[in-house]
Amino acid sequence: MATAAQPMVPNNLESFWMPFTANRQFKAKPRLLVDAKDMHYTTHDGRKVMDGMAGLWCVNAGHGRKEIIEAVQRQVAKLDFAPSFQMGHPAPFELAARLTALLPGDLDHAFFTNSGSESVDTALKIALAYHRVRGEGGRFRLIGRERGYHGVGFGGISVGGMVANRKQFGTLLTGVDHIRHTHDLEHNAFSRGEPAWGAHLADDLQRLVELHDPATIAACIVEPVAGSTGVLPPPKGYLKRLREICDRHGILLIFDEVITGFGRLGAPFAAEYFGVVPDIMTCAKGLTNATVPMGAVFVRKGIYDAFMSGPDNMVELFHGYTYSAHPLAAAAGLTALDIYQREGLFTRGKELAGHFEDAAHGLKGLPNVIDVRNLGLMAAVELAPRPGKPTARAYEIFLRCYEEGLLTRYVGETLTFSPPLIVEKKHIDEMFGTMARVIKAVA
Ligand SMILES: Cc1ncc(COP(=O)(O)O)c(C=O)c1O
Repeated sequence: MATAAQPMVPNNLESFWMPFTANRQFKAKPRLLVDAKDMHYTTHDGRKVMDGMAGLWCVNAGHGRKEIIEAVQRQVAKLDFAPSFQMGHPAPFELAARLTALLPGDLDHAFFTNSGSESVDTALKIALAYHRVRGEGGRFRLIGRERGYHGVGFGGISVGGMVANRKQFGTLLTGVDHIRHTHDLEHNAFSRGEPAWGAHLADDLQRLVELHDPATIAACIVEPVAGSTGVLPPPKGYLKRLREICDRHGILLIFDEVITGFGRLGAPFAAEYFGVVPDIMTCAKGLTNATVPMGAVFVRKGIYDAFMSGPDNMVELFHGYTYSAHPLAAAAGLTALDIYQREGLFTRGKELAGHFEDAAHGLKGLPNVIDVRNLGLMAAVELAPRPGKPTARAYEIFLRCYEEGLLTRYVGETLTFSPPLIVEKKHIDEMFGTMARVIKAVA
């Protein structure tokens, strides 16, 4: 309810410098969300909008989960904060044990952060430090991939491959190179699931190994399915091939599972879905159902063990955040896990993937649609750009969808879908039905 102290519609939008937003455009015609429950947001003008993006790929169990809210309320009343440097509190130990029990292979230790960006920078630092503690400090190079998104820290934008996110920020990290991306409309347009063509693109890592000398390369980081660049499922066999090349040359493989973690593909993590175990894995977002910010980095046993040498009174890794393992985040994480497991949300994506795929590919043949791609409960539709006006068509479709009651996300010429995992078939039909109507209406 609007009160004088807390107006429903702020009357001064100027002071908040909004992230990743066209501020002037937004402030001229704002889109404010004031309420959320399950699959829907309510807007400031009282309309229901279906959440086709799980917020920002993060509200996996749907909005307003009472159990999580109450767990956070109980936790804040009991222990609002405790340092995790040389001190501890019970919840993150339990959370780490429960999370690592879900992971494939010997990924068995968790380092907590507060976001995906922090998870990525932490993972890169662990990779560099790991080689150094083993006496291979000459491995300083980090390899990312074109069109990769790994958050906005300097490490993340350095290994990331989205030009707009890099070009304003100077020299970035040195010693970074990129393998080529896997998006190829000539071979893979309208692929259902993993494209058949393109496993050989993983050999680009071998090219960089030969260029730089493997003894200089610490790690290679990829998103198993690139999300923010417009949902790019990996070609069949591609990730296995990357794993083999890394193994041959002592390079750590990092999977950035900030989006794919916590059930997005119909398995707890993409590593399990693809049957490829990375050495380090990052996550965030769905970890707490986005109720309280939290991220984590998982490492294989051998990596943690390599640090556990030297005098036992010495700090082994000089890294951490004031809010690493924050009590409220840990409480939210534990309760989100309860919900995911009890409601079968880690595997629900597998049951719905076929229906979701058919609905998404129903957009094929509509005006200006040049590609539809999908995996699990992620999908994207790519449009031909308007001549001389890049991204204008996608932006207009995004806006019209919002006005017609659907929240999607647009990146470049692409609109993406990533609904909460509680989505039902009727929601899926409505989502793609709205999108189809809008695509037909927007020239
Ligand atoms: C794969 C990946 N890594 C990292 C991030 C950054 O996460 P955050 O925005 O929580 O810093 C994102 C965010 O979308 C992501 O998709």
